[in-house]
Amino acid sequence: MRNKYAIIIICIVALVIIEKENNIISRVSEKLSLRQTPQATPELPLVYNVTSAPVVDDNRSFTVLSQDFPTFPQINIDEENDTQPRPQPHEAVQGGHKHVLLLATTRTGSSFVGEFFNQQGSGMFYLFEPLWHVERMLTLETGGINATVSSRAYRDVLQRLFLCDFNLLEHFISPPPQDHVTPSLFRRESSAALCEEPVCTPVVKDVFERYHCKNQRCGPLNLTLASEACLRKEHRVIKTVRVRQLETLRPLAEDPRLNVKLIHLVRDPRAILASRMVAFASKYQNWKSWAENGEVPIEDEEVKHLQGNCNQIRLSAELGLSQPHWLANRYMLVRFEDIARYPMQKAAEMYRFTGIPFTSQAKEWILKNTHTSESASGVYSTQKNSSEQVEKWRFSIPFKLAQVVQEVCGPTMKLFGYRFVDDEGTLVNKSFSLLEEKEFHVS
Ligand SMILES: *[C@@H]1O[C@H](CO)[C@@H](O)[C@H](O)[C@H]1NC(C)=O
Ligand SMILES: *[C@@H]1O[C@H](CO)[C@@H](O)[C@H](O)[C@H]1NC(C)=O
Ligand SMILES: *[C@@H]1O[C@H](CO)[C@@H](O)[C@H](O)[C@H]1NC(C)=O
Ligand SMILES: *[C@@H]1O[C@H](CO)[C@@H](O)[C@H](O)[C@H]1NC(C)=O
Ligand SMILES: *[C@@H]1O[C@H](CO)[C@@H](O)[C@H](O)[C@H]1NC(C)=O
Ligand SMILES: *[C@@H]1O[C@H](CO)[C@@H](O)[C@H](O)[C@H]1NC(C)=O
Ligand SMILES: *[C@@H]1O[C@H](CO)[C@@H](O)[C@H](O)[C@H]1NC(C)=O
Repeated sequence: MRNKYAIIIICIVALVIIEKENNIISRVSEKLSLRQTPQATPELPLVYNVTSAPVVDDNRSFTVLSQDFPTFPQINIDEENDTQPRPQPHEAVQGGHKHVLLLATTRTGSSFVGEFFNQQGSGMFYLFEPLWHVERMLTLETGGINATVSSRAYRDVLQRLFLCDFNLLEHFISPPPQDHVTPSLFRRESSAALCEEPVCTPVVKDVFERYHCKNQRCGPLNLTLASEACLRKEHRVIKTVRVRQLETLRPLAEDPRLNVKLIHLVRDPRAILASRMVAFASKYQNWKSWAENGEVPIEDEEVKHLQGNCNQIRLSAELGLSQPHWLANRYMLVRFEDIARYPMQKAAEMYRFTGIPFTSQAKEWILKNTHTSESASGVYSTQKNSSEQVEKWRFSIPFKLAQVVQEVCGPTMKLFGYRFVDDEGTLVNKSFSLLEEKEFHVS
């Protein structure tokens, strides 16, 4: 009897440790995503000053990365020499496979919106931030991110993953997978398809073995099994907060095997700053003290960084909304605030756009997680609570900082229909909506 309790307690302790570790990993990842700091890449004005960004005019789809990374001489990813199974072009067309990239930045609710797809059911292969590995490796390799190189690497890894090929990603996973098996895939547990049989392999050792999924006892991830499962699934969705410029994805959009759809998720930049100040408090110390002093040095690198990010998001959205021929019917812009207000309706729109069936399983998950309701007439109700949650930042952000965001992100806010406030009273006046009703054409 006593032994039983001891084992249960050990299990609980192990789970708590795993949970803690996951938290640390996700925090580290968030940090990494903000890592394009001037200190790390003094020679690269790209992220701070969009106007001086080198145009990525390299259209080659399938770059041999070893040119860029001499330290990886083993990489050979030429099409014809690739040994992994991949769907034939006719398969991709006839099978009606859907490929969707959910593009966002941190603190825009992308994990939540990603779940709308992850919960779709047995036909879905969803990956959560696989580019985390790429960014980390490139950062470690070069001591800073070269935006040209990283955007190319992101694009190529995404393309391979949509084809269910993990070989290229494997080169970025550290420590390197052994025999295509890794215990370290970032946030594996966020991908339902990687936590179900047969990808979930039994844990062979005792209770001290680390389980690699949340509610399932799965051993380390066999990427060959993952690839096979992916090939069996009809729909593939990847979420990422790391792609900076939409135009870098052009070869992906033009790959006839993929017929890819891009969902661009945006949020009020004031809310993003407020949320980051809470989530990454130590990183945002300067903002806090600026708010306390009532004085923000508008020329400070951190402010410029914010401005650069806003401009990049805006330029990507402008490009998408302008419907260049290579994005025709492939680009959809969604505001997180609208998803919070009308989760079911917006989810239905996104599903319709992707062509993926909106299953009852996905609907149930959304109902449960937004406390929304679906009326008999099929009209989806507004969700008061989740929209309240999404407005909480109005009471946490110092007015001074909201003003600064309005100043440096003004054009971005205008494009997306976020209203400006002129005084603190308006900022915290809930009757004053910060959201213009705005329809973004679904191209
Ligand atoms: C951005 O870069 C361009 C070209 O290098 C330069 O003329 C401009 O002053 C820069 N803008 C800012 C805000 O640094
Ligand atoms: C890339 O594509 C654009 C548009 O199709 C074309 O104008 C440009 O010459 C291409 N660049 C290269 C390096 O092939
Ligand atoms: C494919 O691999 C073979 C042997 O490894 C090599 O000789 C050949 O050049 C490769 N093909 C390409 C296009 O790189
Ligand atoms: C970034 O990488 C590209 C492509 O390899 C290279 O041409 C460029 O010089 C690099 N930029 C910096 C600042 O290292
Ligand atoms: C991974 O799965 C594949 C496919 O079932 C299998 O052939 C391989 O032996 C597995 N690898 C390991 C290390 O178990
Ligand atoms: C909204 O949800 C939160 C957490 O689920 C709950 O604490 C709060 O009372 C709810 N507010 C309203 C107005 O229903
Ligand atoms: C709050 O905003 C509403 C709508 O704009 C306005 O009618 C009301 O006077 C405002 N309340 C305060 C206290 O400013």
